[in-house]
Amino acid sequence: MNRFGERFSITTFGESHGKAIGCVLDGVPAGLVIDEAYIQSELDRRKPGQNEFATARKEEDKVEILSGTFEGLSTGTPITLVIYNTDQKSGDYSNVKDIFRPGHADFTYFHKYGLRDYRGGGRSSARETAARVAGGAIAKLMLAQLGISVQSGISAIHGIEAQALDFNYPKNSLIYALDKNVEEAQKAAILDAKNGHDSVGGVATIKISNLPIGLGQGLYYKLDAVLAEAMMGINAVKAVEIGEGIHSSALLASQNNDPITPKGFKTNHAGGILGGMSNGDDIVLRIHFKPTPSIFIDQESVNTDNESVHVSLKGRHDPCVAVRGSIVCESMAALVIADMVLLNMGSTMNGIKNYYT
Ligand SMILES: Cc1cc2nc3c(=O)[nH]c(=O)nc-3n(C[C@H](O)[C@H](O)[C@H](O)COP(=O)(O)O)c2cc1C
Repeated sequence: MNRFGERFSITTFGESHGKAIGCVLDGVPAGLVIDEAYIQSELDRRKPGQNEFATARKEEDKVEILSGTFEGLSTGTPITLVIYNTDQKSGDYSNVKDIFRPGHADFTYFHKYGLRDYRGGGRSSARETAARVAGGAIAKLMLAQLGISVQSGISAIHGIEAQALDFNYPKNSLIYALDKNVEEAQKAAILDAKNGHDSVGGVATIKISNLPIGLGQGLYYKLDAVLAEAMMGINAVKAVEIGEGIHSSALLASQNNDPITPKGFKTNHAGGILGGMSNGDDIVLRIHFKPTPSIFIDQESVNTDNESVHVSLKGRHDPCVAVRGSIVCESMAALVIADMVLLNMGSTMNGIKNYYT
């Protein structure tokens, strides 16, 4: 299960300390300008080693296009993107070879498969998410042709919540903050945890704008369900809210319903989705990341012989995975919308006639 999407799909490959990671995109329409510099710029937003708020691992994350383009355009054939791993320090992980890091995927991988690539978590490492960002960049190029934009930023760190969301601000912020008024407090929370050899969680907010009405299927491929699956499939994500989210269960319908006027919806508690389909308003998602599992505090665990051990980790880790994770959320959202755009094309007889006649 390394493939995601129906008509516009991504299959990723590779491990943290293997030779390379990458993806194969299937279903990209022919004739799309594949701007390699743009794909690289998206990867650079997720890249580690750029400041004190991210892991010190220094991956170059240089993308190469191996197939599916000709003279800068997509050809309608599978597009393969590869990123070679350059900063593997397998020695960092020799002390966790036979023990399970609390909060990480070691325990379940070992018990499911009977063996595991312990170097950096192997396939369970969030290194794989670079491939999703590369693929998501191509989805974003396609969506841009339709005027659809996907933006992201950090709304909360360790419970410190943004009071207002400015999606133009994250590009100026080392932690991709959406509210510059709480940015310093959020940064301090990350550094406090880091200095205490601990880590913090956070919330990324995604906004998808200028969507047509009707993307998504009414029942088993609902837009909200597929977006939630896409987000929950990202490492360390523990919850996803759409629009009013969990708070809607504490409201009256008269507070939660969005009044409809001839000019559109008055409010957006729905988060841009009704009945599993886009309603034309912005889609707003809040994605909750847990604190990075790898910390440098003594923790209780067991080894592969089920004996009690104490884990004291070393290595280079993100003090707050939500920060770089927000770019991954943005990319997965773009992949979902690109898929939904293509799936929607066969939904009416008129649409099919317009295409074929
Ligand atoms: C962008 C990103 C970077 C991450 N970096 C680290 C890291 O440096 N160290 C770590 O222990 N976990 C890191 N994680 C989280 C783990 O990959 C994740 O917690 C682990 O695979 C277990 O999966 P689960 O938390 O989804 O259950 C990162 C996650 C993301 C999204």
